Amino acid sequence: MKAWRVVRNARPSEALELLEVERPTPGPGEVRAHVAATACNFNEVDGCYGRYKTVDPPLPYTLGMEAVGVVDAVGQDAEAWLGRRVMLTGVGATGAHAEYVIGGQEMVFDCPDSLDEFEGAAFYFPFHVAYVSLIERGRLRSGETALIHAGAGGVGSAAIQLAKAQGARVIATAGSAEKLDFCRKLGADLAINYREDDFTEAVSEATEGRGVDVACDLVGGEITQQTMRCMAYNGRLMMTGFSGGIEAEDVAGLLPRPIIFGNFSLAGVLMTYGDPDRYGLIGIHVVPRERGESIHAALLDLHARRQIRPIVGRRASFADLPQELERMERRETMGRTILNWNRAAS
Ligand SMILES: NC(=O)c1ccc[n+]([C@@H]2O[C@H](COP(=O)([O-])OP(=O)(O)OC[C@H]3O[C@@H](n4cnc5c(N)ncnc54)[C@H](OP(=O)(O)O)[C@@H]3O)[C@@H](O)[C@H]2O)c1
Repeated sequence: MKAWRVVRNARPSEALELLEVERPTPGPGEVRAHVAATACNFNEVDGCYGRYKTVDPPLPYTLGMEAVGVVDAVGQDAEAWLGRRVMLTGVGATGAHAEYVIGGQEMVFDCPDSLDEFEGAAFYFPFHVAYVSLIERGRLRSGETALIHAGAGGVGSAAIQLAKAQGARVIATAGSAEKLDFCRKLGADLAINYREDDFTEAVSEATEGRGVDVACDLVGGEITQQTMRCMAYNGRLMMTGFSGGIEAEDVAGLLPRPIIFGNFSLAGVLMTYGDPDRYGLIGIHVVPRERGESIHAALLDLHARRQIRPIVGRRASFADLPQELERMERRETMGRTILNWNRAAS
């Protein structure tokens, strides 16, 4: 089968090679899906450069976190998935940009007929990450105000819609006039160009100095520091992503003083479902699989009621992965870029 392998650490067009590799076999609790569509995820750009410490397998490995496909083989205890069309994460958050992907069943969800494979691929991570950030962990309530950074991106565009569906007022940031327009079309009440304007001042003005109740921070670094000044009393600043520079994830740089004096909560977000008992107290908490299932059901319900919709910003061929990741790196994408694997058959 064809698979995009990271063979060296460099920019995507130099790091990746489309190679023929052996079709993988699912182990116990795993499924194999025949891939129809995959999504480009910002973490994969960092993966190519070898600076993404969360997913850092030895080279070479097959890149790719998210896919939609039909389950064509199953391991022991995963028999119930056989033949179902699913959205899934590759084992170890790798392996998805290939004709076949193996996924652990705790990160496999049904893809209903109401979503085609492209929409399903654009639905899965963006809405699950946004839900875990804003609602599961951030406890966003109707009538509150949410600040969403990188609002035109894959996760950001889902977060804007979800916050609106929750009955919140939404302030979004993004990096160009076209992206601001897009944020407003998605429902943002206010959109701020954080590359040109001081977003802290704009938030202060828009909230009459009160601040926002929940911030979904997908950028990190200096943006996180500035966001601290935007938080309301008892607000929740959700550290959800680091598209401004993944290195910030491991830099000791957060000053306690603004957090203490801000009287807000600083919280982390990891969208991974599983069995919490399997981990113990090792500094990682997964979201229980049962919560993942109710989150998936809640999201599909919102979709059925047309309150949220997946944003397929671009469709491309599987053959275009390196160029499409480089578009993400250059900040040229809006919504999710989805790759079509239907014609990949070797
Ligand atoms: N916590 C979790 O479990 C989890 C899971 C999956 C993904 N994530 C995170 O979610 C975030 C969004 O992921 P995504 O795949 O949907 O990406 P994305 O938002 O579609 O693309 C990244 C966006 O970040 C903004 N950005 C800010 N600074 C940037 C910089 N220096 N270089 C490039 N882009 C920059 C750009 O928008 P502007 O031009 O508008 O600034 C860019 O379009 C990522 O940080 C990812 O790590 C978190």
